[in-house]
Amino acid sequence: MTSTPIAAPGSSFENALSQQALRGSGLAEPDIRQLLEVARQAAEAGAIPLRELFGRLDGVREKGAAGNLVTEADLAAEAVVLDTLTRATPDIPVLSEESGRRQGKGSLEWCVDPLDGTTNYAHGFPFFGTSVGLTWQGIPLLGALAAPAMDQLFWAAPGQGAWCNGNPLRVSACDRLADSLLATGFAYDRIERLDNNYAEFAYFTHRSRGVRRAGAAALDLAYVALGRLDGYWERGLSPWDLAAGVVLVEQAGGVVSAYDGSALDLKGGRIIACAPGLHGALIAGLADCQPLPGSSYGAPELDRGVSAAG
Ligand code: IPD
Ligand code: CA
Ligand code: CA
Repeated sequence: MTSTPIAAPGSSFENALSQQALRGSGLAEPDIRQLLEVARQAAEAGAIPLRELFGRLDGVREKGAAGNLVTEADLAAEAVVLDTLTRATPDIPVLSEESGRRQGKGSLEWCVDPLDGTTNYAHGFPFFGTSVGLTWQGIPLLGALAAPAMDQLFWAAPGQGAWCNGNPLRVSACDRLADSLLATGFAYDRIERLDNNYAEFAYFTHRSRGVRRAGAAALDLAYVALGRLDGYWERGLSPWDLAAGVVLVEQAGGVVSAYDGSALDLKGGRIIACAPGLHGALIAGLADCQPLPGSSYGAPELDRGVSAAG
């Protein structure tokens, strides 16, 4: 493990969620290093079955909303991640996408997405990974993310910086929307909702160099931390999509918040993550967008009686 600390730029650093979680938890640096190592081991463990089964799936099935897939790879990755976490930290509870919450003691909780990017995975598209975050009282503290098809392992923690394969991460210096490359995604409930992100997608597509929709929220965040993407927003996310990636962005000098610029709540589902110089433009743009009538994009059935809350 490379452990040289890097100083993250940006005036918001002391207010970073991971910094707050560190202060609140009272954990000392050796504890953080140890827990970060567990997160990395768990993410790497999850990546093993993902690598083995990639392109070799027997089948996929839908769970919940149409298009929300689960595969044998999600389950195989989850089993080894949970096994790794249970062995290393038996007292820390775990929240994991496919199997829910395992109770335990204390304010810390592992927050696991065994396969983020399941749709990509099922179609042989290499943007996917295993995300393992640790939260303190629901606030992201540290995390790791393995993206095996791209041979990338990310990790970050307060005081330890943010890293990819041993190289320090730094968000971009972009401060003009017109110069930015952005990313977003569309939650599985997009078909039934008016606030399904299409208006926002159009807004930012018109005003930036482009908006990518690569299909793995945790990796979108990692790519903001890498400085390849300048900003990212999305609604309808779950804590396991966000926990590790938020720490990567913050520790790489980026900003994370809710859509209105207030502190991110992992359960709120809406996030902005970006280079500090773009934060104002993303907040303003998202505030400007009104849900498109369904008929504006060829879905007239959405014009009647559809919820726009949440
Ligand atoms: C999904 C991906 C996708 C995002 C969805 C998530 P999954 O996670 O992160 O990019 O748009 O909202 O649910 O289902 O592949 O783990
Ligand atoms: Ca996910
Ligand atoms: Ca998943």
